[in-house]
Amino acid sequence: MEIIIQPSAEAATSVAARIIAKLLRAKPAAVLGLATGSTPLLLYRGLIAMKLDWRKVTTFNLDEYVGLPPEHEQSYHSFMWENLFRHVNIAKKNVHIPDGMSRNIATFCTQYEAKIRSAGGIDLQVLGIGTDGHIGFNEPTSSLSSRTRLKTLTRQTHRDNARFFGSADKVPHHVITMGLGTILEAREIILLAFGAKKARAIAATVEGPLSAINPASVLQWHPQVKVCLDAAAAKKLKRADYYHWVYANKPDWQQY
Ligand code: PGA
Repeated sequence: MEIIIQPSAEAATSVAARIIAKLLRAKPAAVLGLATGSTPLLLYRGLIAMKLDWRKVTTFNLDEYVGLPPEHEQSYHSFMWENLFRHVNIAKKNVHIPDGMSRNIATFCTQYEAKIRSAGGIDLQVLGIGTDGHIGFNEPTSSLSSRTRLKTLTRQTHRDNARFFGSADKVPHHVITMGLGTILEAREIILLAFGAKKARAIAATVEGPLSAINPASVLQWHPQVKVCLDAAAAKKLKRADYYHWVYANKPDWQQY
């Protein structure tokens, strides 16, 4: 894991944006895995401002609420079109977001995995992290080799997401999410986390034991993970000095 600690969320995001821009310039038909939530908003704003060419890009989103139609304002379909896709020249046919209205979720999930494979796999996956260490909606005790499937949100995540819905009773209990095994197959991963409320989950992910109780710790298995943090999210890391030292001493060819 490469731990990149920046003074602010803006600075941490711009490192991530530069890495993604470099990929899209080198590989115009790249396949991106995308995330929702408050964390990637700055990233999407930054990528829009960079005026990159998205014509040949394919995207797969991590997750979606079950029971919300795509046009619902809190669906992740709405989120992605509102915050990224309608501002760039992506082809609608290249956008993939789990269908929360699917009548046969198990079949849908198998087909979603097949579509990722037939697109050539995900080149770069963007992740946020939940306060309980979830990535996608892989809640604690998710199988470390899980695939795209139906999950039930924890009470904590349900509460955390109530802020978007106005009240907790409007938050769906079920979601479709790529699995941890699905995420691990991405060729490169960028995990973003900002703010003190993510510090515990980040410390457990980077320096804790690999354990399904903190699902993001599975990223320790992956050979190409960059963790982009602001100072507050990095606060509980015991080896922060080392991560700063590594970043400050990167050879020129490794700079982002
Ligand atoms: P947030 O959510 O970006 O809104 O903090 C992250 C997550 O739950 O994965």
